[in-house]
Amino acid sequence: MGNFVPVDEFDLIIFGGTGDLAMRKLLPALYHRDRDGQFVGDSRIIAASRSKHSRKQYLELVESALKSNLDEGDFDAEQWKTFSRRIHFTHVDAYAHDSWEALKKLLSGKEDRIRVAYLATAPAVFGTTAKGLKKNGLITKKMRIVLEKPLGHDLKSACEVNDAIGKCFHENQIYRIDHYLGKETVQNLLALRFANSLFEPLWRRGAIDHVQITVAEDLGVGNRVEYFDKIGTLRDMVQNHLLQLVCMVAMEAPSSLHHDAVRDEKIKVLRALKPIGPDRVRENTVRGQYSPGAINGETVDGYLNELGGAESETETFVAVKLEIENWRWSNVPFYLRTGKRMTRKHSEIVVQFQDVPHSIFPEQQYNVKPNRLTIRLQPDEGVKLSVMAKQPGPGGFDLRSVSLDLSFEETFGVQYPDAYERLLMEVLRGNPALFMRRDEVEAAWHWVDTVIESWESSRQNVESYVSGTWGPSASSLLLDRDGRSWYADK
Ligand code: BG6
Repeated sequence: MGNFVPVDEFDLIIFGGTGDLAMRKLLPALYHRDRDGQFVGDSRIIAASRSKHSRKQYLELVESALKSNLDEGDFDAEQWKTFSRRIHFTHVDAYAHDSWEALKKLLSGKEDRIRVAYLATAPAVFGTTAKGLKKNGLITKKMRIVLEKPLGHDLKSACEVNDAIGKCFHENQIYRIDHYLGKETVQNLLALRFANSLFEPLWRRGAIDHVQITVAEDLGVGNRVEYFDKIGTLRDMVQNHLLQLVCMVAMEAPSSLHHDAVRDEKIKVLRALKPIGPDRVRENTVRGQYSPGAINGETVDGYLNELGGAESETETFVAVKLEIENWRWSNVPFYLRTGKRMTRKHSEIVVQFQDVPHSIFPEQQYNVKPNRLTIRLQPDEGVKLSVMAKQPGPGGFDLRSVSLDLSFEETFGVQYPDAYERLLMEVLRGNPALFMRRDEVEAAWHWVDTVIESWESSRQNVESYVSGTWGPSASSLLLDRDGRSWYADK
């Protein structure tokens, strides 16, 4: 791992401090960064919550969460002692005017240090919390606010959240999280594309046949089922994570790594997405919902069983054929799919190059396979380039597709940090490049809203798929119709 550069003293207030995200992701990430010496002086983590706890009770909750969420052997009693000194707890009910006093007292006199408000709460409370911070004079010069997804459930509600926050904070103080942007391999896409000259001349129509993006999960919806049923996979995964991946693959080279230079290029991709109206929606999208099945030899319930037997048309799987209307990508389809309870947890981007224009190996003509660049996001992050090679031997000319395969973990000899570690450090450093700007979120909703309206107006039903498979058969057909197939399934 790179060297660890400490960040200046800070106060990080986590609203929703007793919630699932804080316990499962944020506190373990902060524990690791503190362990590696990146927090100096009296930097503090202040958990704020509607529920009431003493500091001692809260620390007990955190200790047990760390023990169950950190990797085995990662919890160290001495390190916990150091880390726990940084943690404070305060009760805040954003809706109650008189409940901010304790937080005000804690923060008083610390106006010069970096201050971050991390809203790990329901988005319905975002605006009220921002208002509370402003009204109570808690917004300082070095303040940043972090918003967790979901940012709205459509364009209108996203604009409302953005407006409410925008009344209290400048755009450059607002950090909208998409944790996929904190994944090492996603950032490595920038390195792959823009720190190598090899790919750029080929990174376009004429050389690339199509792109596939698969984000498959083996887990089901679990205890989020009630919440998820109002959302579905298009809003939960495609609007943010998958479209961000599309942007990273398809954007033009930014003129620098400056946050606005990168985001200016991403927004152009989002604005160039061809809308999928009612006339094209059946042909270009698939909605699926998992039924009972087996994963890793274990039988699992279907989505409707998890919902307690209720009826539901909410999708847990989406596949889309996407087109980007610009010179670089015209007529190069991007096939995206994501779903829960699929065969295994597996995320990758496959860039398939075109066939050779003429084969000089007539007997082998069916064996000459197009080159493919596979970027593995998880597990076993890495990059693989498939090339054709001659099979060794004195007679004939047998061709085989072989791989130049780079596993990042093996090459760099480190375990990859969780995306939240990176993102929290970027917030503390004041670098919003890995966060979504307002216009990006709204452009993504604009495209997603059209798909949802098209599903509704064309009454496109969800298709059932057996848990433990790669999704409904219509997802294979989506590519089959174009003479292609999903690589991850092979
Ligand atoms: C979240 C979604 O944003 O991403 C979840 O709300 C999903 O439904 C999760 O499970 C997947 O993240 P990862 O990092 O495990 O691929």
